[in-house]
Parts: sequence; structure tokens; C-alpha cells
Amino acid sequence: MDLQLKDKHILVTGASGGIGRAIVEALYEEDSKITLHVFKNIEIAKDLLRKLGGEDRLHVVQADLRKEEDVSKMFKSANDEYGRIDGLVANAGIWSPEPKLTSQLSLERWNNIIKVNLTGVFLCVKEFFKNLEKYLEKQASVVLIGSTAGSFGEAGYADYSATKSALMYGLTKTWKNEIIHFAKLGRVNTVAPGWTYTQMAEESLKDEAEVKKILQTIPLRKIASVEDIASSVLFLLSDIASGHISGETLVVAGGMEGRRLFDQKEIDVNFLKKLRKD
Ligand SMILES: NC(=O)c1ccc[n+]([C@@H]2O[C@H](COP(=O)([O-])OP(=O)(O)OC[C@H]3O[C@@H](n4cnc5c(N)ncnc54)[C@H](OP(=O)(O)O)[C@@H]3O)[C@@H](O)[C@H]2O)c1
Repeated sequence: MDLQLKDKHILVTGASGGIGRAIVEALYEEDSKITLHVFKNIEIAKDLLRKLGGEDRLHVVQADLRKEEDVSKMFKSANDEYGRIDGLVANAGIWSPEPKLTSQLSLERWNNIIKVNLTGVFLCVKEFFKNLEKYLEKQASVVLIGSTAGSFGEAGYADYSATKSALMYGLTKTWKNEIIHFAKLGRVNTVAPGWTYTQMAEESLKDEAEVKKILQTIPLRKIASVEDIASSVLFLLSDIASGHISGETLVVAGGMEGRRLFDQKEIDVNFLKKLRKD
């Protein structure tokens, strides 16, 4: 199926990260024009340019998405390069590899994760809508990146799961009703990956016992590849493949049911004796 993404201008944030790079590579295969956003890792973007080779269809911008001025400049640069931005993939996001129960979670870490994962996405969507207003075309697509942490929560990561829930529920549902004021057939959806093999997840996946624990709630019994996530993002960007889907979260997690919280030895079933007596 032709996704009809040829010549569509797509801005991908966090294109220096594992999932972002896979999205850029998949879009490149579809002959899209891509604005790649990076924060610090400009070298990775240059490597990608060298690997793909098509500088006429790849434009690199550097921005700290926590800063409104940076985000405005990024959109201006993208508009100047390829005109109207037809699709936004708000992929940039961070988490701290160190679990911290809320009683130990510093306000500094909380604020930083909120700024990158939530304020950064808000600023990008705001500029994206303004970009549509100028050109007033019929179709447009926003794909946010959530996480299974947003649906199941995640002990030790209250900061991260709060930002992902906000994207998957309140913001996807709100923005799908706002985008139509700027593009009559505009759509907003979210892809929510579960465990995906990237640098972000690598540390947690080093321990095989931990991987086996994770896989106990996943019927497909595997971790996603970055390509699994990228193909779902392209599906939601494509007006031909998903033109009547808006306000939805597509969970890409092998059927994950939730989290296994305890080992068997940590569970005491003696309470049953008391219940049986009663
Ligand atoms: N990997 C997983 O298992 C998994 C699971 C569920 C959801 N996700 C979500 O998928 C998305 C991509 O994850 P990933 O694994 O590909 O992450 P990653 O490899 O760690 O990449 C993170 C990206 O965020 C950018 N970034 C960091 N701070 C920033 C800032 N202040 N302003 C702008 N950009 C900033 C980084 O830019 P530089 O490198 O240029 O500094 C990088 O491009 C994230 O939203 C993540 O939450 C990942």
C-alpha cells in the first residue's frame, strides 16, 4: 500500500534518539521531506545525513524544546526550508534510569521531566497549529509518543508516567478537537510503545531475569524493535492508511497486560486460612 507520504513535510523531534532515527529512516523510504530535530547529538544527525545521503529531503534543526524561543525558531527554519509542515511527530522524551519512590523524587527531576516531555510537546503542537493556520490546508497529522507507563503507571517513575498519561488521554483528546480549526481533516493520535530496544531502555534490559519478569505479562513474549514503533507512527501519519482515525492511542506493546509486581516468594497466602474459617 502506498502511504502517500511522498513530498509530505514531516517534523520529527528527538530524531537523534533510537525511535526518532527509525522514524526518519522509514519516512525517508517513503520519499517524505523531513525536518529532523536534535537537542545535543548533532553528530548523530550528521551520520544519518551521510547514511541516507539525500540532503535535499533532510533538514536538521537543533533546539532545546523546553524553551519557547528555540521551538519558534525551529518551526520558522522548517517552514523556510520546505514550507507547510504536514505532520508532526512529537517523539523527544526523557526518563531518568534511576527509579525513585515519590517520597525520594526531587522537585528538580520532576520539573525537568515535565518540561521536556510535556511543556516541550505543548510548545511544538502550539507552533504546529500556527503553521497550519498560515496555510489552511485540509489534512494534517500529529503523532504524539506515549508509553505503557502512561496506562499502567510505573512505580519509581511518577514523573515520567504522569507526562505520558497526559499526552495519551487529556491532550490527544483535546487536540483532536482543536486541530480541525486549523485543518478541516486534521488528526491527532498517539503511539504508546511498551518496552522497546533503544539506548533509553538498554540499561534496564541488561539483566535477563528482569527481561523474563517483564515478558510474563506480554503474550508475544518479546521486546519491540524501533522499526515496530516507526511503522505504527507512519500508519498514523498517513491520511490514506488512517484518515478516519483521530483521538486514539495505538499501544505497541505485544499485548502487554500490566506489570508483574512480585515474585512468588514475596506473596503470603496465609490470609486464605482465615477467610476459609469465616
Ligand atoms: N525506549 C523505550 O523503551 C520507550 C518506551 C516507551 C516510550 N518511549 C518514548 O519514545 C520516545 C523516544 O524514546 P527513545 O527510546 O528513542 O529515547 P532516546 O534514544 O533516549 O532519545 C531521546 C531524545 O530526546 C531528545 N531530548 C532530550 N532532552 C531534550 C530537550 N531538552 N529538548 C529537546 N530534545 C531533547 C534527545 O536529543 P539529543 O540526543 O540530541 O540530546 C533524543 O533525541 C520518548 O518520548 C520515550 O519516552 C520509549
